[in-house]
Amino acid sequence: MNRPAHVCIRAVGAYVPPRRVTNDDLAKTVDTSDEWIRSHTGIGARHLADEGVATSDLAVGAVKDLLKRHGLQAEEIGAIILATATQDFLGFPATACIIQDKLGLKTIPAFDVAAGCTGFIYALEIAHGLVAMGTVRSVVVIGAEKLSAVTDWNDRNTCVLFGDGAGCVLVEAGEARDGDIIDSVLHAEGSGASFLCIPRGGTHAPLDPALPPQGQKLQMDGRAVYNFAVRVLGEVVDELLSRNQMTIEDVDWIVPHQANSRIISAAAKRLKIDQSKFFMNIEDYANTSAASIPIALREMEEQGLLKSGQVVMTIGFGAGLTYGGNLIRW
Ligand code: ACO
Repeated sequence: MNRPAHVCIRAVGAYVPPRRVTNDDLAKTVDTSDEWIRSHTGIGARHLADEGVATSDLAVGAVKDLLKRHGLQAEEIGAIILATATQDFLGFPATACIIQDKLGLKTIPAFDVAAGCTGFIYALEIAHGLVAMGTVRSVVVIGAEKLSAVTDWNDRNTCVLFGDGAGCVLVEAGEARDGDIIDSVLHAEGSGASFLCIPRGGTHAPLDPALPPQGQKLQMDGRAVYNFAVRVLGEVVDELLSRNQMTIEDVDWIVPHQANSRIISAAAKRLKIDQSKFFMNIEDYANTSAASIPIALREMEEQGLLKSGQVVMTIGFGAGLTYGGNLIRW
């Protein structure tokens, strides 16, 4: 078997649904304001999918964008890994299988990764392993979420935070060249599982039509998640740097999960890193969970911010509680 020495990101793509909902739009139905949301989160608007649009539709939109922009054919995809917390169906089938079918592909492996907002980080490393082992020649790694479907629209503490969307990258074997995935770190702290969860609907506590719908939607202890996120963001930066004998000066971009601009400001201050090293686009998309990092990469590429040879660090944190990061030579 031929095991490639290098596994690279060859292409990126993204898709967000066309319906854009500003903070002022939300304030018409929720007791909130543009001023509160901006000052507490950095969010200005989010894109929300219509009823009938599933997570797989958003994911297919992102893959089609990737194929079109890079002049590739769907047949060049050797496997599909979807990072999501909002599957088309509860449990099974895997949403990645629905995506495979919608793309007109046959027999290639397709499966979901459930690691909350860190899902893309985990999935990219799994894809790296599959390609490095020679199991498949390429993988499209997708982060896609229809969070609006699991949001409690009566809870102003959470409903203002989230958006829908999808982003993806194509990973394949290559020479040590653009997009080389150098290293990853993956972690979880299951003791914090209840800080961010959908309490009912799984085997632990099934859906119950007799109960109010709130308990069957996403719930969050915002303060606990905030403290966790600020702490682990710093830990992941330090761990990736020390494992690779680098200093922060060797890193051109940090692309964090877009959860809240205050989390990034606090972590940057604690790490004594200039905030301009962190790419942020939460203002336009809100928190799209596993989709936020590939959407950010797509936007950075479009804006010409990613240059060949630059060192890019992706950092994720979220439900699980999970966290981790990838180190990429672009
Ligand atoms: N509009 C207006 N007021 C609000 C809103 C809102 N949308 N939401 C809460 N408030 C009020 C609260 O009711 C409270 O009022 P009170 O003092 O009268 O009780 C006040 O604002 C302050 O509430 P706090 O919860 O203390 O606000 P805080 O400053 O902690 O900010 C926030 C809340 C933004 C959720 C913060 O805790 C946070 O950023 N947490 C991390 C959340 C996050 O990023 N989660 C996702 C990460 S993981 C993932 O991506 C899935």
